[in-house]
Amino acid sequence: MHSELRADSLTVGYGGTPILDDLSLTVTPGRITSIIGPNGCGKSTLLHTLSRLLKPAGGSVLLDGRDISSVPTKELARTLGLLPQSPTAPEGITVAELVGRGRSPHQNFLGQWSQADYDIVAQSLAATGLTELTERSVDELSGGQRQRVWIAMALAQRTDVLLLDEPTTYLDVKHQLDVLDLLVDLNEERGTTIVMVLHDLNLAARYSDELIAVSRGKVLAHGTPADVVTEDTVRAVFGIDSTIVRDPVSSAPAVMPRGRHRVSTPSTTH
Ligand SMILES: Nc1ncnc2c1ncn2[C@@H]1O[C@H](COP(=O)(O)OP(=O)(O)OP(=O)(O)O)[C@@H](O)[C@H]1O
Ligand SMILES: [Mg+2]
Repeated sequence: MHSELRADSLTVGYGGTPILDDLSLTVTPGRITSIIGPNGCGKSTLLHTLSRLLKPAGGSVLLDGRDISSVPTKELARTLGLLPQSPTAPEGITVAELVGRGRSPHQNFLGQWSQADYDIVAQSLAATGLTELTERSVDELSGGQRQRVWIAMALAQRTDVLLLDEPTTYLDVKHQLDVLDLLVDLNEERGTTIVMVLHDLNLAARYSDELIAVSRGKVLAHGTPADVVTEDTVRAVFGIDSTIVRDPVSSAPAVMPRGRHRVSTPSTTH
């Protein structure tokens, strides 16, 4: 059973002009979707609204047809998880403690731990390569190690839908691949619906079933990577010229952006 997440005519702002303007989308259940778009276009605002951290001024977010504003908090936390772009950990918390917090939506009000809770935390730590860091304080980790701790916490939450805001930030190329591969494992093994914001268009195209391009508060394109990664869409969304090639590793479309310098071949369009 997959949960369906839908945004219906969302208008969201922070007091001034709306950041998201009458935006609608349906996340395909059981698939991996990446949201792409320029800095400041509203990607994080969208994830915050989808996860109920922000209340829309207009429209609604529907989880299996129910307005999320009416879903009890604990039930929502068991169904939908969010890894924010810049999460902050409580001072002095250890890796194991932080990852363990992912289990709290599954525990009773006393927070009693079951064997399943311990097993899931251990699996989440192992899957993110953190087993040796479990007793370390999160404050003392490198940016990339800390990012993996948050991913482990999101894994431990075992939600049906997982929203991740730039999960590969701070990670070196190997750890970027590790995280994206892990998300594909989760999607394939547990059917988890994954929605992530990624800035690397080529990894987004390679690792996603669908891409959603956001521009000026609206969805400008939503479809398979082949549908969305075109020279016209890249120009419309990011305001740059590019050449689209085929990723020799995955066969997905890949964007070769064309700046003002270091360009030695003519553009294939105009
Ligand atoms: N708490 C806030 N108060 C006021 N304005 C905000 C707030 N958070 C975001 N904004 C504004 O809303 C717009 C969208 O921000 P958002 O963080 O959603 O962009 P983004 O697409 O995630 O960008 P990035 O790629 O840089 O993460 C920006 O203009 C930003 O300045
Ligand atoms: Mg953002």
